[in-house]
Amino acid sequence: MTMNRRTLNIALAAASLGSLLPASAFAQKKLVLGFAQVGAESEWRTANTESIKSSAKEAGIELKFSDAQQKQENQIKAIRSYIAQKVDVIAFSPVVESGWETVLREAKAAKIPVVLTDRSVNTKDDTLYVTFMGSDFTEEGRKAGRWLTEKMKDQKGEVNIVELQGTVGSAPAIDRKKGFEEIIKADPKFKIIRSQTGDFTRAKGKEVMEAFLKAEGKKINVLYAHNDDMAIGAIQAIEEAGLKPAKDITVISIDGVKGAFEAMIAGKLNVSVECSPLLGPQLMQAVKDIKAGKTLPKRIVTEEGIFPMEVAAKEFPNRKY
Ligand code: AHR
Repeated sequence: MTMNRRTLNIALAAASLGSLLPASAFAQKKLVLGFAQVGAESEWRTANTESIKSSAKEAGIELKFSDAQQKQENQIKAIRSYIAQKVDVIAFSPVVESGWETVLREAKAAKIPVVLTDRSVNTKDDTLYVTFMGSDFTEEGRKAGRWLTEKMKDQKGEVNIVELQGTVGSAPAIDRKKGFEEIIKADPKFKIIRSQTGDFTRAKGKEVMEAFLKAEGKKINVLYAHNDDMAIGAIQAIEEAGLKPAKDITVISIDGVKGAFEAMIAGKLNVSVECSPLLGPQLMQAVKDIKAGKTLPKRIVTEEGIFPMEVAAKEFPNRKY
């Protein structure tokens, strides 16, 4: 093969440049994702954080991660710092539904796309985010309600329910309550006699259940907890009160974390509705798609099931969180 002088000069220049510059100079610039997490309030949240961190690593995406300790102002601060750092995409799981418009407008003005994961915001302006990926919390509440009404369909007399709500103002607390009530209201024998927040934590779940037991004692037939952690805390309170969880008091919760499966296998929890925290792979794909200019659906719903205690032992080895 012959080379003219010009081609030869270009080839020599490229070769000498290659030996002078480090390999990283030729590598593609990594995408940067800023993620503002709610906190570390539950087993579910720990699994969600792990899923996001490991998927970012696997996808070769640089992750800037912050933990808001369940405080909206901390999440807003984190989002503003990601805007200042000019990250490629911002994602977050909003601790509560309202109060996001200002900071989302700031992200939009800076032309940084925002992805909502796990929980949504209640803005009318859906141009403030690209997509919302996560569970249908209302349907989770309905599943819990359907399981209960089916189990107690032949029961005569009132069914007194106490409810442990999630964080006040959060999408899962609002929607899980709504979905559950939608189903039980069809039969007036089902009555929610007490309802209070346990903030999605074991400690608060136990504390509030102790108060419920003190006030209502043996009148309580059912505990509906908006997540497994609160149910696990409440189970402890029920046992300390000398009652048998899942027998004297039917216990229903949501998430399907390993801790709930252990409680079901031990015969202390009747049922857990699944809510998957494994959103990391989907999120990383969305980040890549957004940067590639693809259009994403506004809503990506996670597929989920329900696990009564009868299937817990068989299902346990398949659980990933
Ligand atoms: O937003 C999802 C909820 O938040 C989970 O059900 C709960 O465990 C978590 O803290």
